[in-house]
Amino acid sequence: MAGVGWAVMPMSISHEEGLHLKSECSASYADGAFRRAGVGRGDSLQVREDIRRDEVMWIEPGEASAHQTLFLASLEILRLALNERFFLGLFNYEGHFAIYPQGAFYKAHLDRHAGTQDRIITVILYLNEGWQTGDGGELKIWTSADGRDGCYEIIEPRMGTMVCFMAEDFWHEVLPATKQRASITGWFRQRP
Ligand code: OGA
Ligand code: MN
Repeated sequence: MAGVGWAVMPMSISHEEGLHLKSECSASYADGAFRRAGVGRGDSLQVREDIRRDEVMWIEPGEASAHQTLFLASLEILRLALNERFFLGLFNYEGHFAIYPQGAFYKAHLDRHAGTQDRIITVILYLNEGWQTGDGGELKIWTSADGRDGCYEIIEPRMGTMVCFMAEDFWHEVLPATKQRASITGWFRQRP
């Protein structure tokens, strides 16, 4: 994160924990616990299939499983480390499981809602075992922090890969996935 404002960490959690999180994600999805993700917030929240087609289930700390609680605890260590190193005043985390069904995408966007400043850092953990080049669903992130014209990186959503970036600064999109794609996406926030 230092200097550039974004980071990719392959193998950020143990393979075993990744598999547990994935199977819990799949089980909740099969149970119908996911909802079509929206665009905007509050009264202006709306489902826009032309912009994003993922489905999400928020993680509620009080209801999280043991594996999810372990993951939240590891994010807590990351949050404190980021505060210590970069003086960001990160206050808490909000996150959801996300499933991109086959063919789903999320068009280029920033992660901060209009009129808000609480989301400081985006953290994404990918949960796709055996993901192959050509399966699509890559994260495309423009790395110049000043728009969508310059350089970009393409990140494959492989099991255990974690991506962090400054939520306000980096345009990004999810390219169409040719098969179902799972992740946990969330944000470290400042006090509103
Ligand atoms: C998001 C998002 C990217 C990804 O949910 O806001 O941009 O790679 N996700 O899942
Ligand atoms: Mn995003």
